[in-house]
Amino acid sequence: MLREVLETAGHAVVEADSLAAARQALREARPELVLTDLRLPDGDGLAVLNDARDADSTLPVVVMTAYGGVQDAVAAMKAGALDFLAKPVDPDYLLLLVERALTARRLANENILLKEELAARRGAPRLIGEDPALRRVLAELQRAAGTDATVLLLGESGTGKELFARTLHALSRRVDGPFVAVNCAAIPATLLETELFGYEKGAFTGATARKPGRFELAHRGTLFLDEIGDLPLPLQAKILRVLEEHRFERVGGTATLQVDVRIVAATNRNLTAAVAARAFREDLFFRLSVVPITIPPLRDRPGDVPMLARYFVERFCRDLNRPPLMLSPDAIDALQRYRWPGNVRELQNCIERAVILADGHVIEARQLNLQPAPAAVAAAPPAGEPADPDPWSRIDLSGTLADVSQRVLREVERRKLQLALARTGGDRARMCEELGTTAKGLASRLRDLGLE
Ligand SMILES: Nc1ncnc2c1ncn2[C@@H]1O[C@H](COP(=O)(O)OP(=O)(O)OP(=O)(O)O)[C@@H](O)[C@H]1O
Ligand SMILES: [Mg+2]
Repeated sequence: MLREVLETAGHAVVEADSLAAARQALREARPELVLTDLRLPDGDGLAVLNDARDADSTLPVVVMTAYGGVQDAVAAMKAGALDFLAKPVDPDYLLLLVERALTARRLANENILLKEELAARRGAPRLIGEDPALRRVLAELQRAAGTDATVLLLGESGTGKELFARTLHALSRRVDGPFVAVNCAAIPATLLETELFGYEKGAFTGATARKPGRFELAHRGTLFLDEIGDLPLPLQAKILRVLEEHRFERVGGTATLQVDVRIVAATNRNLTAAVAARAFREDLFFRLSVVPITIPPLRDRPGDVPMLARYFVERFCRDLNRPPLMLSPDAIDALQRYRWPGNVRELQNCIERAVILADGHVIEARQLNLQPAPAAVAAAPPAGEPADPDPWSRIDLSGTLADVSQRVLREVERRKLQLALARTGGDRARMCEELGTTAKGLASRLRDLGLE
């Protein structure tokens, strides 16, 4: 009777007539919800409940008890059952309970994602830009958004690849689905596989419950594979298979899962060179670059600089609770002449500093601190003149105390990092050791100083 009611409502039902059969069904059928009787020929429903919750702590279990079995029901609820049904079961009530349980489970998954989204969106960034070079790229993005094609976003560090990926999702028909981001460079290679594909309980020491991977969580939405150029070769093979077949298995699992996911990947590496060097699979490269979109560096879209600068000034004033500030014409001019090796991120950081340090209503050019190294610290002697023997006279002491310390500190840091880069050939682990920084700290300094 239960099967009939549930199937009529569109659910797939797997039956088990004993505890042993239930255990097998839990393993093989991977249900979304479990309905169990309390008395079973070879055990009881509480054992089913325990097994189910062990396999997946979010799996809803509803226990059926004989009329009057209140004690049993209470015990089941204490053990983690979602609810209980008194027998004889009322079909309408059963359906109501099942729908509610399935919704709760979906919401629990969505909740994980929403929390991350929220954290990522504080002060939801808008895509700013009017330069024809940017407008052209936006038009490409708009066209790609109308399809499910895999998009590969290319561009220097700080050009806005992540922002473009989010915008693509927002423009697509998947906008109501999840946007799930994975930074392939930030997660250690050993954890990346379980992060992407999830794992089954018992897949490895410490895997005490099943965990869904990012591919599963992105179902009906967009999966953003950031820094794809850093993906280790063995994982490249696995990703290729998902792209080709939309199927995968959890780590330690045998069941094949099917997902409906649109992939957007990004990298600031030269993938063509990586393919030539056999560090990146050519077949994966072709799969990913169905629609390649290259975001031009900020220096190639000068029209965007004043707009972005004003937008950031406004945003940081609001964030920092400061009265509105203006950029002087000289400041705008200096911003437009600078080359922005760290692109929009560097501009954003530069404006944030200027807003913090500003003391009047106007941000002047000198407060932006834009002289390229090494002139900011030590100006070269005029041609034909001997170098000044007093090093202090070569340090630019104009501006406030904060201006000077910041300018000098920045230049010293830049020098030190450049030296370390040259000495280690860019080996991050050795650089961290030498500089006494964490990998994260180092990456952010390099980005900040436009040395990436
Ligand atoms: N056109 C834009 N309008 C507004 N903000 C932008 C724009 N482009 C970039 N930004 C901002 O600049 C910062 C850097 O952008 P993002 O993180 O997307 O760059 P990225 O290309 O992913 O860099 P990386 O390669 O270093 O990861 C972000 O804070 C982003 O919101
Ligand atoms: Mg990025």
